[in-house]
Amino acid sequence: MTAFADIHCHIVPGTDDGAADLAESIAMARMAEADGTKSLVATPHQLGNNSHVTAEAIRQGVAALQAALDAEGIAVSVLPGADVRIEPELPKLLKQGKVLTLAERGKHVLLELPHDTYIPLEPLLAALDRQGLVGILSHPERNRGIIKHPEVMDDVVAAGGLLQITAGSLTGAFGGSPQRIAEYCVENRLIHFIASDAHDTKKRPFGMAAAYETICEMADEHLAELVCCENPARVVDGEDVDIDGPARAKPRRKGWGFWG
Ligand SMILES: [Fe+2]
Repeated sequence: MTAFADIHCHIVPGTDDGAADLAESIAMARMAEADGTKSLVATPHQLGNNSHVTAEAIRQGVAALQAALDAEGIAVSVLPGADVRIEPELPKLLKQGKVLTLAERGKHVLLELPHDTYIPLEPLLAALDRQGLVGILSHPERNRGIIKHPEVMDDVVAAGGLLQITAGSLTGAFGGSPQRIAEYCVENRLIHFIASDAHDTKKRPFGMAAAYETICEMADEHLAELVCCENPARVVDGEDVDIDGPARAKPRRKGWGFWG
């Protein structure tokens, strides 16, 4: 097993509902290091209820955190990113540099749906594609609309989107329904990334190693390596992600024209 890269965590201190202060951020980084993670993309919430979180605040928070980790001798690199609530203005805000891409590579955008409903993502994914960007849908397995209609994940993938499953969902931390959908994704290889979406060290910890083991048991080591290590490392480096067989879908529904 190579080191994990984690493309979704809320480790920037005092920015959103993640780490409250620098001490908690440092404790989280220690926990991630012990779990086998070398790179973290720090993804504070942006847009939605977190419209006040600016790109510059994230950059500054990440730089200060990295300096603190270096001083503490914690061998984890932290890169700026964002967990972005989808909004009609999103493509424009990305173009203006007000919303961050993952690791600021100008390649991948982490997309968060409202939790209780699915909104067809094809128009947004197409708009992002026109800007040379690829959308990564965060935790589809925890979205109530997708839990009722998991087949829409095929549409997301067919439209060029990538899927990020939460590590804790696979091990039951979010309850039975998210776990079933997460297992469905692994069984059908309808998954591109595992990420922690860690918010702290207790209630919402990292759990990458446990998810890796679960995928080895349910599928095989190749898939575990791909979604926990290789694909997220490609995002960190700003490279294209290798699609391992899940593009089996045909588009099923049209979007709403939400993004014009
Ligand atoms: Fe998140």
